[in-house]
Amino acid sequence: MATDNPLHATILELTRPGRGILAADESQPTITKRFKALGIESTEETRRNYRQLLFTTRGAEEYLSGVILFEETLSQRTDDGAPLPEVLTRAGILPGIKVDKGTTPLPNAPGDLITQGLDGLGERLKEYKKYGVRFAKWREVYGITDANPTALGIEANAEVLARYAAVCQQEGIVPIVEPEVLIDGDHTMSRCREVSDAVLHAVFTALHRHKVMLEGMVLKPSMVLPGKEHSSKATAEQIATATVEVLLCNVPAAVPTINFLSGGQSPEEATANLNAMNKLYPRAPWVLSFSYARALQDPAMRAWGGRPENVPAAQKAFHQRVKMNSLARAGKWTPELERAA
Ligand code: 13P
Repeated sequence: MATDNPLHATILELTRPGRGILAADESQPTITKRFKALGIESTEETRRNYRQLLFTTRGAEEYLSGVILFEETLSQRTDDGAPLPEVLTRAGILPGIKVDKGTTPLPNAPGDLITQGLDGLGERLKEYKKYGVRFAKWREVYGITDANPTALGIEANAEVLARYAAVCQQEGIVPIVEPEVLIDGDHTMSRCREVSDAVLHAVFTALHRHKVMLEGMVLKPSMVLPGKEHSSKATAEQIATATVEVLLCNVPAAVPTINFLSGGQSPEEATANLNAMNKLYPRAPWVLSFSYARALQDPAMRAWGGRPENVPAAQKAFHQRVKMNSLARAGKWTPELERAA
């Protein structure tokens, strides 16, 4: 990739040492569900307050290179009137945007879903760029059952991800390509590994077919884990090994960075698993970092509870999570560091 390519500059910034990405792009229904579980009302104002809290956490910029936003946040402002995307830019953090429009059942593939939002995507990206947006995110989901995902589901989802990525690159926007194999269910870890392998293989075949520049994209995969309802748990070392082995078989070294989603792991598990990957594979061909939503935000959202007087405690909790994951990105995290905080 030519060094004057805008994608190149964005990738360099996103991969700065010690940093990862915060996903703060929950759609209205998703953040409403998360707020409701904690007794917080979801209004435009409470969502603004909450995201302001995250983005103005002092010192978080040492651990974050990007934040993925939901469309509503682009035009929201801090109490002092500063646009929220600008608050990030001023702190040296790149604003990104979730551009997919959620999932719908995929016809003739019972149980599989497909993500919508390709129509008019180029025009929307042109608008988002006016807010300083430098990268985008699109998520396809794959539930695991004995029959899912189907071969059709795997193909169709890969095709859509590749089409999205090609449109982004055409607009000078770095695409985060997110194929999420869901943790729900009682499947074994080896079944998750088999599905992840098939999904990633199809995704990279489709990216190649659509001539997506691998050097100018971010991969955001799920980790290889046993299903949430499965009878036994796996260790961080087992998860790290299975995950990196699948990635090594499917993800070309030209991809600069892999930023995982947390997908329902507890905050400490997500940190421990990322740490184990960097510890066991210090010479992996890609940066192995994070792009968590829940695993970075849960303790902060809980500490806040919708109350202004809790903002300092919430920011402390958020700072702790980004710091711990920054250490995990270098394989330098230990459980003792959590307890020392
Ligand atoms: P979680 O880390 O909560 O899985 O969210 C990541 C994300 O951006 C999902 O699209």
